[in-house]
Amino acid sequence: MPSTVLTPYPAADFPEQPTAIVTGAASERGIGRATAHRLAREGWAVAVVDLGQDACESVAAEVARQHGVPTLGLGADIRDEAQVRAATDRIVAELPQLVGLVNNAGVSSPVPFLEVTPQEWDRVVDVNLRGTFLMTQAAARVMADNRLGRIVNISSASAQRGGAVYSLAAYCASKAGVIGLAKTLARELGPYGITANTVSPGSIDTDIMGGTLTDERKEALLRDIPVGRVGAVDDVANVVSFLLGREAGYVTGATYDVNGGSHIA
Ligand SMILES: NC(=O)c1ccc[n+]([C@@H]2O[C@H](COP(=O)([O-])OP(=O)(O)OC[C@H]3O[C@@H](n4cnc5c(N)ncnc54)[C@H](O)[C@@H]3O)[C@@H](O)[C@H]2O)c1
Repeated sequence: MPSTVLTPYPAADFPEQPTAIVTGAASERGIGRATAHRLAREGWAVAVVDLGQDACESVAAEVARQHGVPTLGLGADIRDEAQVRAATDRIVAELPQLVGLVNNAGVSSPVPFLEVTPQEWDRVVDVNLRGTFLMTQAAARVMADNRLGRIVNISSASAQRGGAVYSLAAYCASKAGVIGLAKTLARELGPYGITANTVSPGSIDTDIMGGTLTDERKEALLRDIPVGRVGAVDDVANVVSFLLGREAGYVTGATYDVNGGSHIA
């Protein structure tokens, strides 16, 4: 924990150009890449963190080119503490003040509970939950020193509904975990000027559910979605952008459902 004494509210001033880390942002049709673009459009400097240095550099260059903001592409496996620390150190050294973290990297798991092996359980929980923990701790230490931070965990409607779309037990348990983590972060880190929230998407048109969604699969999904369409990556990116923004400083510990009404709590 930071050693210095807590300052009272309000949190430190929001910098003119803050930096956000988006994990899992190198996937071609993914939520992370759309979020990186959305934030850059708002003027954020962006660190693209994902598996594979080349892919991260390429997305970072694309975001910089399209929006004219500083970016950094860093290949890092978020399950690995040393890699997470090294990535965070470079972000702090090379980009403007770190304010935002979007814990978006994740893996799916359509394995029925009775067939889940300990290896499958660990594979999923290690990325979705341990990776979120490691990335958050590294970033939050910096944010706490700055007395300003915005953390968003990406969960899933599957965690709230107990599956029912594609991924099953290991995924749902890990994604329920990131909701709990955000809530406890909201309590513990609020005094440091840090907010922590969750965005919980329903079915979004990416490749994570076993490949690109066919029209047939979309049709089947629609039966359960009152707004009558499968979600787009920007539906999620827009809400993340709001929660990271200057105006969202009094929103913390909340779970934002972005699911077209497929889960109404
Ligand atoms: N698409 C949906 O319908 C949907 C619904 C609910 C929640 N989500 C969640 O949204 C997030 C983004 O999903 P997406 O649909 O864009 O999927 P995606 O597969 O396109 O993106 C996931 C990204 O995470 C990265 N990643 C995986 N393991 C990693 C690791 N160890 N270290 C660093 N990066 C790693 C992958 O390389 C990939 O780029 C995920 O957390 C997912 O669970 C997606």
